[in-house]
Amino acid sequence: MAFKDGVKGKGGMPDTFRMQDHHPRKLRIALLHGLIFGSFSEDVPPIEAYLGEEISSRIERVLSGRTPAVLGRFTQVLPNNWKLYMENVKDPYHASILHLFFTTFELNTLSQDGAIIVDDSGGHHVSYSAIDREAQKDLEYAKQQIRSESEYKLADPSLLQGFDEYHDGVTLQIVSVFPTFVLQQIQNAIAVRQIVPRAIDKTDVNWTYIGFTDDTPEKRLTRIKQGNLVGPAGYISMEDGCVGGFVQLGIAGASGQEAVLEMGGSQAQSSESRVTEASVRGFWKAYRSNMGL
Ligand SMILES: [Fe+2]
Repeated sequence: MAFKDGVKGKGGMPDTFRMQDHHPRKLRIALLHGLIFGSFSEDVPPIEAYLGEEISSRIERVLSGRTPAVLGRFTQVLPNNWKLYMENVKDPYHASILHLFFTTFELNTLSQDGAIIVDDSGGHHVSYSAIDREAQKDLEYAKQQIRSESEYKLADPSLLQGFDEYHDGVTLQIVSVFPTFVLQQIQNAIAVRQIVPRAIDKTDVNWTYIGFTDDTPEKRLTRIKQGNLVGPAGYISMEDGCVGGFVQLGIAGASGQEAVLEMGGSQAQSSESRVTEASVRGFWKAYRSNMGL
């Protein structure tokens, strides 16, 4: 504090003033498998209680027992509200329709084994699936008459040749923690996404791609290659960078209308089918509860 004791014995703070009674607001932090969570709230419960066992174990699955190493980071600027991005992350139903790369190369289709976990608050979710490499061509998509049929082949298939990291067959797992945290495992591409609201129609996504300190050079190279699947120009997720902006423009012209989120019913519960918007309904349930709506 400048001139705390005044100048030439005059002015300044009184002797009774105690600096320690006027410190900056303290950020409460919690460490979890190399991640750091923070809150200015005194009322937030400990991180393990906030997440609950089911969500914690899914973060543990990806990160625990190893020391993360940052492979790269960048910020993606989205032309939409942060809540539209969180809806996108939580919606397992759009991924194999919007992201043509997924279905073209059969990385994520809704007929694969998988499930959705929604915690009791509704705010956190996990979506996971397993590629069945022995499966026949997925006929469900042909029946829907959506743009999933293709004879395309990757010129360099090494992009998708990863290593068995978790020994549970799960090749894709997305975890979201209310309100703005995402942990992604797509094959061996692991990333943390921190969603930062900047304006009503502007959101930053801070991406951090990670590997682990004990990765061999081959594993490190695989992670970096597969990192091309995600991010603003990602083979899979490039569409997520603009689709929120399209939705936001549509909403602006329909402020008196309501969205329908009834895929999979009206509850916000875990389900073995990923043809559901349960985790999106869960997000709004938690949002309304937190905002007193
Ligand atoms: Fe997406």
